[in-house]
Amino acid sequence: MTSSNSTNDSTPSSTNITWHAGHVSREERAQLLKQKGLTIWFTGLSASGKSTVASALEQHLLHRGINAYRLDGDNIRFGLNKNLGFSPEDRNENIRRIAEVSKLFADSATVAITSFISPYRIDRDSARNLHQEAGIPFVEVFADVPVSVAEQRDPKGLYKKARAGEIKEFTGISAPYEAPEHPEIHIRTDLTPIAKAVQQITTYLEDNKLI
Ligand SMILES: Nc1ncnc2c1ncn2[C@@H]1O[C@H](COP(=O)(O)OP(=O)(O)OP(=O)(O)O)[C@@H](O)[C@H]1O
Ligand SMILES: [Mg+2]
Repeated sequence: MTSSNSTNDSTPSSTNITWHAGHVSREERAQLLKQKGLTIWFTGLSASGKSTVASALEQHLLHRGINAYRLDGDNIRFGLNKNLGFSPEDRNENIRRIAEVSKLFADSATVAITSFISPYRIDRDSARNLHQEAGIPFVEVFADVPVSVAEQRDPKGLYKKARAGEIKEFTGISAPYEAPEHPEIHIRTDLTPIAKAVQQITTYLEDNKLI
């Protein structure tokens, strides 16, 4: 078995592979299923509200008859990405895989909703480029709160552990978070109730004819 030296190398490790196109184009699929696919990419500190708002958004879209599916940081680390930690390289690979998976969901005419801290701008930009190159809409949502608010919320007790030195490389405390410069949607979750945040996102999607 061959394995890549670098998980970030964009060249496939396998040779002798050929893309096999299906019989249904993305446009035809969208027409048949009466909905377009896209990826809604949440980014923000731990406890910024990514999963909370993403879950409420998923529920709202499904209740409107729009197929939506969430890919959530911790959940994905139980399975697909269980072999990855929190070093910069592993975070990079974590996001690379999620970008690929969300693109597949979006290509299948689903609204893919990802909620990962995704602290590095370069990784988020790679995810965006991957979608753009394929002609799939990518909507970056910045769940923004001051670290002090996230630390007060601390629903998983992670900030407490990070402060005690029990978690190394914790974003916002001992690892960097690079805030988006031009997110499509910016939500201050300490100032915006969850329902309003969902409304802000759906209004953007409607205005841009994405739903
Ligand atoms: N307006 C709001 N929007 C989102 N979350 C809020 C809001 N007000 C309070 N909260 C609370 O903040 C916490 C956010 O936690 P959540 O798990 O959604 O964060 P996260 O960004 O997914 O973190 P992680 O990266 O650790 O998964 C929850 O306990 C939620 O109830
Ligand atoms: Mg979460």
